Amino acid sequence: MARSAAALWWLMAALGGLVFVLVVALLVAGLRRGRAGPVRVEPGGSETGSSRRWLVGGGVLLPSVVLVVVLGATVAAMRDVPVQAPDGALVVEVTGHQYWWEIRYPAEGAVVANELHLPVGRPVALRLRSADVIHSFWVPALGGKMDALPDGVNTLVLQADEAGEHTSECAEFCGVQHTNMSLLVVAEEPDAFRAWVAAQAAPAAPVNSTGAAGADVFARACSRCHAVRPATEAEPAERGPDLTHFASRRTIGAIAENEPEALRRWISDPHAMKTGVLMPAVELDPHELDTVVTYLEGLR
Ligand code: CUA
Repeated sequence: MARSAAALWWLMAALGGLVFVLVVALLVAGLRRGRAGPVRVEPGGSETGSSRRWLVGGGVLLPSVVLVVVLGATVAAMRDVPVQAPDGALVVEVTGHQYWWEIRYPAEGAVVANELHLPVGRPVALRLRSADVIHSFWVPALGGKMDALPDGVNTLVLQADEAGEHTSECAEFCGVQHTNMSLLVVAEEPDAFRAWVAAQAAPAAPVNSTGAAGADVFARACSRCHAVRPATEAEPAERGPDLTHFASRRTIGAIAENEPEALRRWISDPHAMKTGVLMPAVELDPHELDTVVTYLEGLR
C-alpha cells in the first residue's frame, strides 16, 4: 500500500512538473515575442484561430488529459488499500489522547504508551479511536493515514516488510502539544516481537526493599491516573499512560529520554518540559521524589 501511494505521488509530481515547465516555457516565449514589436489589436476584438487553439488545447484538453490520467492512477492505487483485516491479522487498539498514544494488544494482554511494536511480515489491524479530540495516525514509511475519532472506531491495516524503526506523528491538529504527539514504531522479527509483547503483558516486577517506599508514594500520588498492573488500575476518565513496564520505554512523554534525572524533572513540573500536558505537577518532598523515581525506573 505504501509503495503504490508513493508511486502515485511520483506520477503526480512528474505530471505537475511537466505542466509547470511547459507553462514557464510559454511564458518566456510570450515575453520575448511581446518585446519584439507593438501590440496588435484585432479589429472587432474577436479571437484569432490561433488564440482559440491555445485556449482549447492548453485550457481544456491538456488539463483534462492530465486529470484523467491522475484519476485512473488514483483509483488503481486505492485498490491496494485493504478495507478489511485479513485472517490472522494482529489486532492492536490505538487510542489517541491529548497528547500521547495508548497502545493495547487485547489478545496478548499488553498495554503500552507511545511505543508500537509490530511483527515483520504479518498484517496488523489498528483499531483507531480517540479519548478526547480528533487525532490522526500516520506512519509515512508504512503508508496509510487515518483519523482517530472520539465517536467511532476506524480500522487501518498495515504490514511492515522489513525490520526497522519509524516515527509516527499525529497528523491532525489537536492542541498545544500536537507537535510532540509522536509515536515510536518498531517493526521487529516475529520472535523478538513475541518476547517483547510477552514481557509487556507480564505483571509488574515484584517490589523489593529499595522500591517499597516508592511504591507507597506512587499509590498515594500517582495511581489515580497511572496503572501499574496488577496493583493499581487508573480511573478511566483520568487515565494517563500505563506505567507497568515504564523503565522499558525509550522516552518520557515522547519528549525526553527515559532516565532518572529527566523523570525527576518531569514529575516535579511536567509543564516545563511539555507545556499544556494534562498531568499536573506533583508536589513531593525531595526524599519522596527520589524513592518514586527509583521505583519507576525499576519497572522493567
Ligand atoms: Cu494528536 Cu495532533
